[in-house]
Amino acid sequence: MGIRFTGWGTAVPDRVVTNDELSATLDTTDEWIFERTGIRERRIGGSAGSLGLAAARAALTNAGVTAESVDFVILATTTPDNLIPATAPSIASALGINAPAIDLNAACSGFMYAVRVAEGLTATGAKRVLVIGAENLSRWTDWNDRTMAVLLGDGAGAAVIDAVEGPGDILGFDLGSDGSLVHLLRCEHGGTIWMDGKEIFRRAVRIIVESAERAMAQAGVTSDQLSLVIPHQANVRIISAACQRLGVPMERAIVVLDRFGNTSSASIPLAVDDARQRNLLHPGDLVLLTGFGAGMTWASAVVLWSP
Ligand code: ACO
Repeated sequence: MGIRFTGWGTAVPDRVVTNDELSATLDTTDEWIFERTGIRERRIGGSAGSLGLAAARAALTNAGVTAESVDFVILATTTPDNLIPATAPSIASALGINAPAIDLNAACSGFMYAVRVAEGLTATGAKRVLVIGAENLSRWTDWNDRTMAVLLGDGAGAAVIDAVEGPGDILGFDLGSDGSLVHLLRCEHGGTIWMDGKEIFRRAVRIIVESAERAMAQAGVTSDQLSLVIPHQANVRIISAACQRLGVPMERAIVVLDRFGNTSSASIPLAVDDARQRNLLHPGDLVLLTGFGAGMTWASAVVLWSP
């Protein structure tokens, strides 16, 4: 048995906040933000529940399947609507799904972790899993802190994952965590998000490269065979440094953070959907999905793109 991605969907708030708008209240400039991060603007608003629901609906429509056919719902989020209860059951209920529904927090690697869990669930009988990554990071952002406020955005992406006979779409997977690095990126209860940007940057490049190499080794592919790299969207300089070390031309990397900033669990499905909408994904393509985040956590998968 394997898994196949059969539908994708996204949702972002309507409200666009440009770098120039932030510069009006913060000691920063569009030039600084774009040069150091690659971000031009981000979307702000909604909630993990509302954005996640909209993305899930879009993914089900794209897959052409009914909500009732879903056996399990996983919402990857660092920003659930409440501490109790989890947000996934509300999304499931709004869709008319009574199947099990859970939240999963692996920070910016969350969507990929959820895909891995979905794969495991198919081994225990689930035929269809709805995986969502949704974030409302703006709620936990200190809008007076220029070092964080310029980086984050809100949004959601979702995928319908079906159990299939045979190897399926995932050829190699690597997941990991290192809790000794917990201090690098934190948000206490009732607090705002804080990170040691320089140290995260340094480690992120190394982590992406090592994790991607393990996933590629498991898949039996080399980086020159990759059609696309779809990385977590934190900083374009991290993406370009990782691509350079992997020997993948930057033109093969999908970048959407110019429009959305860092949307944590939502960033990889937002980038996949962007590549799909631009017809950059073709059956038979080998695609590397790779993410890293607070924890620290990381996750990479080599996907054989199917029709
Ligand atoms: N506008 C203007 N100046 C700024 C801003 C800003 N928004 N932010 C910081 N600066 C200043 C700093 O104060 C510093 O000034 P100084 O030289 O007088 O001390 C100067 O710019 C340089 O700051 P650095 O921190 O050295 O800038 P750097 O080039 O490292 O970029 C950044 C900072 C963008 C945060 C980068 O380190 C980065 O992207 N790190 C990784 C972030 C990341 O991947 N996070 C993962 C998040 S995942 C999640 O879970 C949300």
